[in-house]
Amino acid sequence: SKRPILVEGPMPIEAEKFAERLENVEKETSGTFDYYIGTVDDYPVIVAQTGKGMENSAAATVVAIERYNPVAIINQGTSGGHDPSLNVFDIVLGKKSVNIGSLKTGQRGEGEGIAPKEWIPMDLMASEGSAGEDPDAENIRYFKADKDLLAAANAVKDKHTKGKVVEGTIGSADVWNNEVDRIKWFHEKFGTSVEEMETASAAQIAKAYDVPFLGIRILSNNKTNGGEYNPNTAAVNQEYVYEVVQEYIATY
Ligand code: 5AD
Repeated sequence: SKRPILVEGPMPIEAEKFAERLENVEKETSGTFDYYIGTVDDYPVIVAQTGKGMENSAAATVVAIERYNPVAIINQGTSGGHDPSLNVFDIVLGKKSVNIGSLKTGQRGEGEGIAPKEWIPMDLMASEGSAGEDPDAENIRYFKADKDLLAAANAVKDKHTKGKVVEGTIGSADVWNNEVDRIKWFHEKFGTSVEEMETASAAQIAKAYDVPFLGIRILSNNKTNGGEYNPNTAAVNQEYVYEVVQEYIATY
């Protein structure tokens, strides 16, 4: 039988719209993770409602890979803008993703305070040695998108009419940043287009198992240009991702 495409969404509003469009659906659960197993255009597709954050995202991805052996993984949902040229309802295709919570602080003694702008990126996958001491670990680890998934997403760009679709960098951590200067620091240092709490985590697991991966994130808010939070973006992103999945099934 054919290996399924796995579509992940963290919150109910980020998974239900896609799950509703599946045919021949059966639901399976593991821990707090829900899997809607069905078809799109007679091809097997599984929608995973993972829960929010890096841990849920990683664990739900491992369970799905072990149980269902997906041929490709799309992690999708909402995000906050780091790039002032992106507006609420614009969509970022994660050509790269990066864990923006993986950081090492500067050396400061007692009473010397804290200085977040001195913090440096930490690559936990650089070596098997201590990331705290290894100079090779002082680099940014980017997870790259699969080129066929990215091509399928680019091919259906025009189907998204409520905003633009651009390639960019998705930054992930269990942090919601509301400090515009901190957001700017990430944008400049890591090249982030948006932030959220799942993509880089799922991407790391997909890479560990060598499964093609793409993150697709709509902006639900953007602190850098006054873009107010709009939860309706979650459903609109799933409509677009459905088109991407159809394109991928038809072409690859
Ligand atoms: N910062 C962090 N996470 C965000 N999310 C949407 N916007 C942001 C933002 N500005 C997403 C995360 C998580 C939930 C809190 O919403 O991916 O699932």
